[in-house]
Amino acid sequence: MSSFDPHWCRQHFPALARQHEGHSAVFLDGPAGSQVPRGVIEAISQYLVDCNANHGGVFVTSMESDALLERAHHAVADLLGSSDPGTVFFGQNMTSLTFAFSRALARTWQAGDEVIVTRLDHDANVTPWVLAARDAGATVHQVGFRHDDCTLQLDEFARVLSPRTRLVAVGCASNAVGTINPVQEIITQAHAVGAQVFLDAVHYAPHASIDVTAWDCDYLACSAYKFFGPHIGILYGKRPLLESLPAYKVRPAPDDLPGRWMTGTQSHEGIAGVLAAIDYLSALGRHLNPTASTRREALTSVFDAIQRYERGLGAYLLEELARIPDVRIWGITDPQRLHQRVPTVAITHAQRSSQEVATALARQGIFVWAGNFYALTLTETLGLEPDGLVRLGLLHYNTRAEVERLLDALHGL
Ligand SMILES: Cc1ncc(COP(=O)(O)O)c(C=O)c1O
Repeated sequence: MSSFDPHWCRQHFPALARQHEGHSAVFLDGPAGSQVPRGVIEAISQYLVDCNANHGGVFVTSMESDALLERAHHAVADLLGSSDPGTVFFGQNMTSLTFAFSRALARTWQAGDEVIVTRLDHDANVTPWVLAARDAGATVHQVGFRHDDCTLQLDEFARVLSPRTRLVAVGCASNAVGTINPVQEIITQAHAVGAQVFLDAVHYAPHASIDVTAWDCDYLACSAYKFFGPHIGILYGKRPLLESLPAYKVRPAPDDLPGRWMTGTQSHEGIAGVLAAIDYLSALGRHLNPTASTRREALTSVFDAIQRYERGLGAYLLEELARIPDVRIWGITDPQRLHQRVPTVAITHAQRSSQEVATALARQGIFVWAGNFYALTLTETLGLEPDGLVRLGLLHYNTRAEVERLLDALHGL
C-alpha cells in the first residue's frame, strides 16, 4: 500500500493552480462544491465532441452515448456499494431529486402517519419531507442535537420513533459542523418499527466510503459536485421500493429501472463527468493499493486513505484553532472523537462577524463560506442567525501548508 500524497492528487486539479493577487488560492469551500480533476473536464468536452446525442437512437452516437450512461450507472453503483446499477439514478441536484421523490413517497402515506427529520440537517433533507407530510396529513417530528458538540439527541430519536413512523430522513454528515451521524444505528432502530430511512450523503460522499448494502438504507441521495464531479444529483433506492412506488412520469417514458425515476433528458455530458470523477477516485485507489482487484475495492481503499489523511489535517486545524482566543469552534473538538466528524469545521469570531472573517480571508486568497449553508434549523437552534458561522472545509487536496496560511490569517484578524 503506498502512502497518501496530497501533492500527487493536486496535480490532477487544474483549478488549484489559481493565483489571487499574488497568493496561491486556498480552496476551503469544498462543502459548497469541490474542484474537479482534469479527467472530468476532458470527459465533459469529449462527450460533446464524440457522442452528443439523445437516448435510444439506432445510430452510432446515440448508441455510444447510451453505453457511456450505462457505464456511469455501474460506476455510481460501485461508489455507493450497490451491486445493481438499476438502483441509482441521476437528476438535476439532490434538492430537486428529493422534492420529486418525496412527493411520490408521500402518496403512500396517510393521516396519522409520522415522519422524523433532524435539526442538524441541510434543509434539502428537511423541507421536502415537511411539505410532503403536510400534503399527506402526516405528522413531523424534528429530532434535536446537543449544543455542546452538535451530535444528534439519539434518546429523543428513540422516543419519537414508533410503529406510526413511515420515514426517517437523516444526514450522514452535517455540512455545517461536520458531525457524522450514527446512521447504521438509526437504520436498525427505524427498521425495527417498520420505518424506512432516507439518507442525505451529500456532505459525507467526498470524505468516506458509502455502503448502501451494509447500511441497509432504503434511499440515499448525494451530489457529484461535492465529490469532484459536475453539478448532478444522484439518488439510490432499493429495487423493490423503486419498482413499486408511484413515480410521476410522462408517457411514453420507460417504466423500468432506472428510467422510471429519470424525468426528461439528462445532462449526458455531466453524467460523463460523474463517471470521470469516479474514475479519478478509483485510479487514486489503485495507485494507493495496487492489489485492489475491483473498482469497489479501489474506492474503498481510496476512502480509507482519504479519511486517515483528512483526520490528521483536521486534528491539526482543530488543535490550532483552539489556541486562537477569539475563535469558538462549533461541533466535536475532542481529539479522541475525530472518527465522529469530517474535517468541516465551523467557527465564530468574538470580534468579527462571520461575513467579515470570510471577507478578510478572501482578500488573502483563502476561500471560505460564511452563513448558514442551508443548515438553517441548526443555526437558528444555536441562536446564530442572521450572521451564521464561518465554514472551513478541508478536502483530500488541501495541505498542511494551506491550513498554516489559514491559521496565520485568523491570528492576524
Ligand atoms: C448536506 C447537504 N445536503 C443537501 C445539499 C443540497 O444539494 P444540491 O445542491 O445538490 O441540491 C447540500 C448542498 O450543499 C448539502 O451540503
